[in-house]
Amino acid sequence: MHYLVLFILLCSGTLLSITLIDYYQHQRDGFLDSVQKSLQCRTLRERLVTMTTIKKVDIALFSQEVRELMNCPWRLNLTHRELYRTELWSCCNASDRLMVTRQNTNLNQSLSYEIHRWKKRKVDQALWEMLPQTVPWSKGSLSHCAVVGSGGILQNSSCGAEIDNADYVIRFNLAPINKSYDVGVKTDLITANPSQINKGYTDLQRNPGHLAEVLSFYGHADLLLPAFSSASGTAPCFKVYHALRKARPQQEVVFFHPDYLFELGRFWRHRGQRARRLSTGLMLASTALEICEQVHLYGFWPFPLDLSHNPLPHHYYDNVGPNRRMHTMPEEFLLLLQLHSQGALQLHVGPCTLIPTP
Ligand SMILES: *[C@@H]1O[C@H](CO)[C@@H](O)[C@H](O)[C@H]1NC(C)=O
Ligand SMILES: *[C@@H]1O[C@H](CO)[C@@H](O)[C@H](O)[C@H]1NC(C)=O
Ligand SMILES: *[C@@H]1O[C@H](CO)[C@@H](O)[C@H](O)[C@H]1NC(C)=O
Ligand SMILES: *[C@@H]1O[C@H](CO)[C@@H](O)[C@H](O)[C@H]1NC(C)=O
Ligand SMILES: *[C@@H]1O[C@H](CO)[C@@H](O)[C@H](O)[C@H]1NC(C)=O
Repeated sequence: MHYLVLFILLCSGTLLSITLIDYYQHQRDGFLDSVQKSLQCRTLRERLVTMTTIKKVDIALFSQEVRELMNCPWRLNLTHRELYRTELWSCCNASDRLMVTRQNTNLNQSLSYEIHRWKKRKVDQALWEMLPQTVPWSKGSLSHCAVVGSGGILQNSSCGAEIDNADYVIRFNLAPINKSYDVGVKTDLITANPSQINKGYTDLQRNPGHLAEVLSFYGHADLLLPAFSSASGTAPCFKVYHALRKARPQQEVVFFHPDYLFELGRFWRHRGQRARRLSTGLMLASTALEICEQVHLYGFWPFPLDLSHNPLPHHYYDNVGPNRRMHTMPEEFLLLLQLHSQGALQLHVGPCTLIPTP
């Protein structure tokens, strides 16, 4: 009888120690895995931050690295975030002059165009009356911002809920929001560009209904237009302003300040960007970096294949190519990836996890 009890005790003891040894081995392996992974993540971040250009880089290999980086945990680095924010504030000051306002502009002064600096536009009484009083925010006054690019990478991304969870959402070029499961619907600021207006909205004076309807989808969002980037853009932007004043009087229509965009271009050129002009995406990502506590970017991925090598359309809503003469999207993407690696902002490439970020 005693022997049997002893035997059972011995057996269960052995079993227990085997289980325990197994358990600790798993723990140790898990621990070693996570140490190795965090080392790999660190090495990867350091490598990306020191890259100076994306030309001559094998895009398949680069995609693989971006995929690994997206699996690495992201942590805000306050030091880097504050550094960029302060530098952007002192060079460009979005909180004062992202847009032309009565506060930052005097009646009868001249504005220099962003691209052709020697060309000027006088702020006469009529223009002055079109301007808002002030910019509606100050440095760091918004908390969680989402900047939503229009890249095909947003197709089937399931990012909509995460985007709508932000406090302030910026979109571009009147991008449609009817694929809401992937792109969300919340919109606080949206841009339109003059060539799009000329092409899509002819005869606005007599027929503003279509534009008014398109804008009604974005609810209370402000419409931001580059009226003073090149001289040819002024007339179409003013037409939009006047058409909407009649058809949708509650719609805020505001104009980018050309000095803000000019200084921002100079800021990033000093940090290695070579393009003639920044894309509107990088412009407003920079604005967000200055005015928001947390910046999340979606829909920024300028390559024709996704991270698993499936083909992508140019935009999540159409397949019309970008203006290659003006912008160098891959170089801008590298810059954004570096800001992500440094912990200044968070870039989302590929599908969103369904757990909302706190
Ligand atoms: C932020 O980055 C700096 C410079 O790379 C580094 O020294 C610092 O430890 C980082 N801070 C955190 C909290 O990771
Ligand atoms: C930015 O503009 C605000 C509002 O005019 C001003 O108070 C602030 O000093 C400016 N910041 C810089 C760095 O020039
Ligand atoms: C602006 O210019 C108009 C016409 O030249 C003039 O009548 C007006 O007094 C000027 N206003 C200011 C504030 O300089
Ligand atoms: C979504 O919006 C775009 C542009 O406004 C339009 O072309 C498309 O037909 C719409 N799709 C659906 C499913 O409503
Ligand atoms: C998204 O899903 C649809 C429907 O399954 C499919 O036709 C389309 O090719 C997908 N797009 C991408 C970029 O994966």
